[in-house]
Amino acid sequence: MRIAVIAGDGIGKDVTAEAVKVLDAVAEASGRPIGFEHLPWGADHYLKTGETLPSGGYDRLRTFDAVFVGALGDPRVPDNRHARDILLGTRFELDLYVNYRPVRLLADRLCPLKDRGRKDVNFTVFRENTEGVYVGVGGRFKAGTPDEVAIQEEINTYKGVYRIIRHAFEHATARGLTKVCMADKSNAMQQGHALWQRVFREVAAEYPSISATHQYIDALAMFLVRDPGQYEVIVTNNLFGDIITDIGGALQGGLGMAASGNIHPGRTSLFEPVHGSAPPLAGKDVANPMGAILSAALMLDTLGRRDDAAAVEAAVEAAIAAGQTTTDIGGALGTRAVGDWIAERVRHQS
Ligand code: NAD
Ligand code: IPM
Ligand code: MN
Repeated sequence: MRIAVIAGDGIGKDVTAEAVKVLDAVAEASGRPIGFEHLPWGADHYLKTGETLPSGGYDRLRTFDAVFVGALGDPRVPDNRHARDILLGTRFELDLYVNYRPVRLLADRLCPLKDRGRKDVNFTVFRENTEGVYVGVGGRFKAGTPDEVAIQEEINTYKGVYRIIRHAFEHATARGLTKVCMADKSNAMQQGHALWQRVFREVAAEYPSISATHQYIDALAMFLVRDPGQYEVIVTNNLFGDIITDIGGALQGGLGMAASGNIHPGRTSLFEPVHGSAPPLAGKDVANPMGAILSAALMLDTLGRRDDAAAVEAAVEAAIAAGQTTTDIGGALGTRAVGDWIAERVRHQS
């Protein structure tokens, strides 16, 4: 197994080191080696060389079994063009149309909601990952003047909407789940989101045993906080999926806990924590590495190493149960000590 590692910026570097440490422990415990190639792409590299990623960079990524990313984003690059090329560029160029973001609470005490616990926070968000407002179609006219016009188009294609909705239903079917909720803003966005409505009805008709419901995204954001237990699978567009998965992170105990996969089934896919580079925390040994470590588990699971993925998840749960965590979720350890504890646990429980 060969993994490309882009630690990136800020706490991306801190948490990636711990995810790699845990993957090394997995390789050792299972006797199946995992090879890493560390790619220096990120803000430092861009500021030094003027290059965001080298020519042929996307093709190079395609030669790996998977790509692991820490986070990208640095205040020294105000427009974050390197993040756009490295992260969004890879999502587009490798056509990673499924942004898979499971929202699972690992301990009742981490839930920020009153009288809610593990039974209430256990659902998956499928975020469309190759279209929407992220494509960057648009432009500015008379920029910097009082007459400035800024246009940012939202792209929705039948193919793009169909494949993510279809994937959500397939996931539900494969996991024995019975509920899929689609969220859009079709009451205000009468063109693009009418397409989402039509495709959702069309796909839902193919899965009569699944209860297919619709909520407007504003209402869904409210219900995520009031009654998250009603959801099993949520499918939505690129921007709304970005926003609600930060809420999902909070429901799991904080952004430091949330994992994700950027997936094209059967092809090289990219795994990363949901959080960003959190510049104020960078390099201080305080960032929670669990979101990154759980993203590594998602990567193992997606690559067919289900037992190894389960071992990593069990080790993270054990760390939480033993209070061996960073301060954001109530512990007293640093980033590296949490990584050490989880890696050690993986070695001994396997
Ligand atoms: P952020 O996710 O970096 O941080 C938001 C808040 O969450 C911060 O208060 C931070 O303290 C907390 N937090 C995040 N991760 C944590 C962790 N592992 N442990 C403990 N606390 C954690 O979001 P932001 O501040 O809006 O963005 C910072 C930069 O990261 C920006 O440049 C943004 O564009 C970028 N970003 C990148 C990604 C990515 O690479 N996938 C994702 C989100 C944001
Ligand atoms: C995420 C991030 C990215 C996104 C940013 C860094 C462009 O917030 O992966 O959730 O909006 O997709
Ligand atoms: Mn985000």
